Order: sequence, then C-alpha cells, then structure tokens
Amino acid sequence: MTGSPGTSHGIRLAFLFTPQTVRNTTRDFLQKLHGGTTCYSFDKPTAAQNAADFSVKGEIMPVIVVANPKGGVGKSTIATNLAGYFAKQGKNVMLGDIDVQQSSRSWLRLRSPSLPAIASWEIAEGTIAKPPKGTTHMVLDTPAGLDGKRLQDAMRIADKVIVPLQASIFDILATQSFLQNLLNHRSKADIGVIGMRVNIRTRAADQLAQYVSNLGLPVLGYLRDTQNYVQLAALGATLWDLAPSRAEKDAAQWNELLQWVER
Ligand SMILES: Nc1ncnc2c1ncn2[C@@H]1O[C@H](COP(=O)(O)OP(=O)(O)OP(=O)(O)O)[C@@H](O)[C@H]1O
Ligand SMILES: [Mg+2]
Repeated sequence: MTGSPGTSHGIRLAFLFTPQTVRNTTRDFLQKLHGGTTCYSFDKPTAAQNAADFSVKGEIMPVIVVANPKGGVGKSTIATNLAGYFAKQGKNVMLGDIDVQQSSRSWLRLRSPSLPAIASWEIAEGTIAKPPKGTTHMVLDTPAGLDGKRLQDAMRIADKVIVPLQASIFDILATQSFLQNLLNHRSKADIGVIGMRVNIRTRAADQLAQYVSNLGLPVLGYLRDTQNYVQLAALGATLWDLAPSRAEKDAAQWNELLQWVER
C-alpha cells in the first residue's frame, strides 16, 4: 500500500497499486462516488484497471459483479440475494443493474419497506452510475449477452466477479469463451463460479467442478434447485428475510460464497 487520500463520508480508499494512472483513476472514481454532485461514467477513458477497494473501519468493501452472458442462469437471483444478505447485516448496500430488462431494479420495487433496505444504483442506458452517498457495499447485476465494451466496463470497477453456472454441458459450453475471456483479460478482480440448481450428488455436478478447477477457478458452492428462490423473488425478498429456521438449508449453501466475498 502506498498511501491514503483520507476519509470521505466515512469511506477510506486504500491504494493497492503504485502506478499514477491507477491512483488517478481510483481517486477520480471515489471523488465522484462520494461527492454527490457528479456521477461516474463507465465511458470515462481510463488507461488502467480500476484499483479501488473500499474500507470502513478496516473492512474490505468490494464491488461485486455478477455475470454470465448465458441467459437465465441465476445472475439476478445471486445479485438480489447477495444484496439482501448485506442489507440484513445492516450494511449500506446498493444493487445496480446494467440489464436492459432492469430485473434487479424491478425486483427492488417489489421489496417491502419493512425489510432491510437495499438502495438502487442508477445506471442509465448502461453507461452512467450514480451510487448513493454513504454506500458501503455494491452489487452489480448484468444482462445476458454481456460482452465487448460493456463487459470491460463492468470488469473495470469489479473487485469480485461471481459467475453463476448451471451443471449442463450446454451451459458450460455457452460460458466457456466468456470465462476464457475473463481469464485472458484478468484485472485485479477475483473470479469465482457458483453452481446453480445443482444436485451436488450428480455426475453433472462433478463435471462442473472438474471444468471449473481445470480453469484454475474456485467453485464457491452449489445452490439446489428450489422454488424458494422463485417465490422469494416474487415478493422482493431474499433468503435472509426469512426466519433462520425456514432458510437454514439454503442459507448454508451460501456460506462459502459469502466467506469468499467478505475475504
Ligand atoms: N436455485 C434455483 N432454484 C430454482 N429456481 C431458480 C434458482 N435460481 C434461479 N432460479 C430461477 O430461474 C430463473 C432465472 O433466474 P435469474 O432471473 O436469476 O437468471 P438470470 O441469469 O438473471 O437471467 P437473465 O439472463 O434473463 O437476466 C428465475 O425464475 C429464478 O427464480
Ligand atoms: Mg437477470
């Protein structure tokens, strides 16, 4: 670590890399993030990958991007439940959405004000982000078909990338070039895969684990196929809004992912 710009709204930026270009980029990003007068544009030219980590009282505050160009694999399910987890922990979490369908934003509108608050991260036309002041945790949902510049934009601000993947050969094949692309243009972001709708005691689960480990990536766990996610989503709710005894089985399947995210 080479220095610190001091605090802003209780958030301190830790510089992780020395090049000036990176420092300028991250400072600019944070000033805009917390200044409230302007907004951060994904289109802003940058020579370096974003190197901002956010820390409050020593905690790491990553920007977590959930991505897979394959449709319907569970990106919004992961993004909303992860945001719900942070909210339940009392964090100031925002959930952003560069999906034209705005799935996560639509879901937020269903969320009861009596549940732990999740702020919306406004992203107009997939290019501009206006994170609310005081935010400490950021989760970004992305659309099917994300590639090219929009993918680079999302990666530039990502500290962690979660790739939901179903255990079918078609899903694996459809995700192959995306994962390879992520690995080839690897920034500082950690990448992890979560098996979606997977029965862990199946050959398909073994194949998924084998495929992911061959890429040198971690499998962050497996979520079973359950209507709980479907029903909770319809209520604007997450696993973490249920009484612990009702969510026990599914919540346990998130342990590894949550540890990885909070690491
Ligand atoms: N573990 C699960 N068990 C059962 N249903 C699930 C599970 N995870 C997700 N689903 C359901 O699968 C459908 C697709 O999930 P989701 O919308 O999260 O995928 P997505 O990748 O965001 O899709 P898109 O690419 O269209 O944005 C939803 O109806 C969701 O409720
Ligand atoms: Mg979605």
